[in-house]
Amino acid sequence: MKPMLHKKYKGYFDVGAALEAKNLGKYEEILKQHFNSITPENELKFLIVHPQIAEYNFTDCDKLVEFAYENNQHIRGHTLIWHNQVPDWLFESTGALSLSRNEMLRRMENHIQTIVDRYKDSIYCWDVVNEAIDDGNDFLRNNKWKEIIGDDYIEKAFYYAYEANPKALFFLNEYNCESGAKGDKTYDLIKQMRIKGVPIDGIGIQGHYQVDYPSADSFRVMLEKYSRLGLKIHITELDVSMFSYQDRRVDLPEPSKEMIEKQIEKYSSLFKVFREYKDSIDSVTLWGVADDCTWLDSSPVKERKDWPLLFDQDLNPKEVLYSIINW
Ligand code: GLA
Repeated sequence: MKPMLHKKYKGYFDVGAALEAKNLGKYEEILKQHFNSITPENELKFLIVHPQIAEYNFTDCDKLVEFAYENNQHIRGHTLIWHNQVPDWLFESTGALSLSRNEMLRRMENHIQTIVDRYKDSIYCWDVVNEAIDDGNDFLRNNKWKEIIGDDYIEKAFYYAYEANPKALFFLNEYNCESGAKGDKTYDLIKQMRIKGVPIDGIGIQGHYQVDYPSADSFRVMLEKYSRLGLKIHITELDVSMFSYQDRRVDLPEPSKEMIEKQIEKYSSLFKVFREYKDSIDSVTLWGVADDCTWLDSSPVKERKDWPLLFDQDLNPKEVLYSIINW
């Protein structure tokens, strides 16, 4: 078995995949052969890892950590603070009074310190806050964290993580931040944090793309801006949908030849830009391993098959894999 994808990018960046522990068995060979980084897809999300106020559940994350250790792979920690996949208890008060800022901060601190400390020898970087920027006209997304704590919930989270493991690297993870108004807001937020001395090391660019988005040129502009801030850049959740975002058709049993070609072009041009920015980009992670299991089968259109990854539904390598190996 020849190691391929990640070996090809040695000296450039890690190449990783997100997966759930339950899928380790079926993806084992692919992971060992092609990837040198792993992201727990759901195991570290608040709802899963901390379902009750006094109950943590590390079993599945531990399986991924063990696998990565045995196979000499890095682990990215995803994600400490997010508005989605949270348990009900988190934003509920325990007494008659409404939940105070102090109590919310205490819950946040407890959560972050427990998890970051537990994995301080195995998880080298964390998506500390996920999706904090507003998609509309506001600067920050209005979520419960912000409502109860205030705008400084973001920096507090970074400080708590840093206190738990000063050696780890801390990222703000965001989507649609490679261009436009949201890109500018993300850039401004990180710049403000850097000026204030908040322990943030980098930007996680999620990278949920489509065959016609983004253009390599607009992407390059944003990478240039982020790298001038002296930030580490991780591409954290890369996939390339066969459908453009507006395309809501549901009748395709398989992708057309044209779609397949466009996907190859998109992946190739993106990896070309990633290579150009190898001094800033340290890690590129695919959001999934193979087309048999992708969140895009239910988003943005429910029950529509998509084929966004590098391996097909039978776990065989797709032509697109070779296009980013043989450049
Ligand atoms: C976001 C989250 C990921 C994942 C994807 C969809 O990008 O950051 O953890 O939930 O949505 O699966």
